[in-house]
Amino acid sequence: MPSSIVIGSQWGDEGKGKVIDILASQAEVVVRSQGGNNAGHTVVNNGVTYKLHVVPSGILYPDTLCLIGAGVVIDPKNFLEELQMLKDKNISTKNLKIDPRTHVVMPWHILLDGLSEQFRGNSDIGTTKRGIGPAYMDKYERCGIRMYDLVHPEIFRQKALSTGALKNKIITEVYGGEAFDLEAVIAEYTEYGKQLASYVDDVSVLTYEANKAGKTILFEGAQATLLDIDFGTYPYVTSSHPVSGGVCTGTGVGPKMIDRIIGVAKAYTTRVGKGPFPSELNDEIGDKIRNIGGEFGTTTGRPRRTGWFDAVIVRHSVRVNGLDGLALNKLDTLCGLGDLKVCVAYKKPDGTILKNFPAALEELDGVEPVYETLPGFTEDISGCRSFDELPETCKAYIKRVEELIECPVCMIGVGPDRTQTIERN
Ligand code: GDP
Ligand code: IMO
Ligand code: MG
Repeated sequence: MPSSIVIGSQWGDEGKGKVIDILASQAEVVVRSQGGNNAGHTVVNNGVTYKLHVVPSGILYPDTLCLIGAGVVIDPKNFLEELQMLKDKNISTKNLKIDPRTHVVMPWHILLDGLSEQFRGNSDIGTTKRGIGPAYMDKYERCGIRMYDLVHPEIFRQKALSTGALKNKIITEVYGGEAFDLEAVIAEYTEYGKQLASYVDDVSVLTYEANKAGKTILFEGAQATLLDIDFGTYPYVTSSHPVSGGVCTGTGVGPKMIDRIIGVAKAYTTRVGKGPFPSELNDEIGDKIRNIGGEFGTTTGRPRRTGWFDAVIVRHSVRVNGLDGLALNKLDTLCGLGDLKVCVAYKKPDGTILKNFPAALEELDGVEPVYETLPGFTEDISGCRSFDELPETCKAYIKRVEELIECPVCMIGVGPDRTQTIERN
């Protein structure tokens, strides 16, 4: 397929990095279109683990063009560290390009992310504190600093002085924090701009030209549908559009370019940060899933909340993204857990059954998950490479998931490595 989108279908960390890395073996271009270094995408190849935050997960292929689209926000300091990490592992970044329209995460965004979370107290969102929300706020306020500005020292200086003065006022007078020395920030970030200048190119044009030349393009989603600013569990969401619709606006291409949309989910559910999670398990099984699945954040190291597969949220993702297929990862983690439950609906305290994920969190107050119970499995499936090799219980689990979410499961993950995947048509 020439152009495919790979998108998160739950609350993030579904294994998008692994799926992109696998599909990238047949792609010539991989594009990121939203989010920033709040994302943490893991790729495991030959026992070596790569943790990527902003660099597209196609980077391990030396000839693949890796593009960072206009909708992404970049923390230049952290990004340069990520490039250094890749260079240290002998991974070339020569085919990496950043759109000049990407917004720059400045140090005041990071500080303000922490200060506003602190101000919210118990009502905090549980952000990654990477400055993502404040950077997108400035973008929409129309006072952001873009990559184009960063690599033009005079323009950068002017913009950093004017926006920096306002940020210092907010930091000191609203939060009682310490002001930034703007000259020191300008000197430090001008240096980052110099190091990044050669990467800057128009990603909208590059993607368009690649498509015209018949190249295979993969659009790599970050975060996930339930973290979308409109279609997620607002306000416990991120500040961008991680849904398939966000890919076009975040790259600068038209929707007719997209041929296929793949969602990624785990065979259970996890979430980091706060917010509703109807099928959450605060018990021994939840702990087991966390420990067996290694459910600790790639970016922040925070323990992930865990629970049963929730067909309500994945069906929501099928609709919102127009999914053609679902990659179901980490089936191996469910080994030995006993009977498996799948959440098929929510029951409100008045007995009403919710089959579709509601628009407002208030609608979820006091809901109980309605579960279907399916037989579990004890066989080691990490070596299975075809659907037929899976135990009958696993096959039945996948088939029931497909019926419930109304979408075919096109890939099954049985381990973290590139090779530990079952592909189905
Ligand atoms: P992403 O943010 O969606 O790219 O996912 P993360 O990389 O944050 O988290 C997914 C974690 O699950 C990583 O540690 C992966 O190496 C791991 N992983 C992905 N697929 C599988 C799988 O099928 N089985 C197992 N056991 N681990 C997997
Ligand atoms: P990947 O791409 C999981 C969550 C944070 C928090 C909320 C808002 O690895 O799947 P933010 O810092 O974005 O303002 O935080 O969103 N969050 C993620 N959770 N995976 C991610 O990315 C996430 N990116 C943000 O934990 O709840
Ligand atoms: Mg992640």
